[in-house]
Amino acid sequence: MSKNIILCGFMGCGKTTVGKNLQKRSGMNMIDTDAYIEKNQGMKISEIFDKYGESYFRDLEYDACCELSKKSGIIISTGGGALTFERNVQALKKNGTIVLIDVPLDAIKERLKNDTTRPLLQRPDKDEAMRELYEKRMPLYKKAADIIVDGEFPPLQVALNIIHIAKI
Ligand code: S3P
Repeated sequence: MSKNIILCGFMGCGKTTVGKNLQKRSGMNMIDTDAYIEKNQGMKISEIFDKYGESYFRDLEYDACCELSKKSGIIISTGGGALTFERNVQALKKNGTIVLIDVPLDAIKERLKNDTTRPLLQRPDKDEAMRELYEKRMPLYKKAADIIVDGEFPPLQVALNIIHIAKI
């Protein structure tokens, strides 16, 4: 049974774009946990946060991690909060190699400066909120990760590096 590749990292680090490149180059299928939740719920992530709150979303995210971990040989692109929760790490690690796409905070800030889709960043003190979350989360991502790749290269290059390092 071939292992899944789990893409992890902060919002805006490129999980989805790198994943698409990885999918094209490796021939593996990709499922994005946020897209999986949106499809099952028939709602956008931002609507789920608005209507039911973050902890309800985190339970859906946990269910998605458990369901997707039953698959093998796929790429799973996770939401930026997913692998900061130990229960999700445990679920996905059983059958997956966790790859952290490492991008410095300044580059993330630049990438997300006009973003309106992430509920956690829709606040007046966006920069400060990002810094706090980033500092809290980075050590957790690093603890969960089996492999860390530099995410400042173009997405195709990052995908090729993952193929090389993870021996896909
Ligand atoms: C979140 C990141 C989002 C999405 C939700 C919560 C987070 O995914 O799951 O808005 O907690 O960082 P992306 O990392 O794909 O933006």
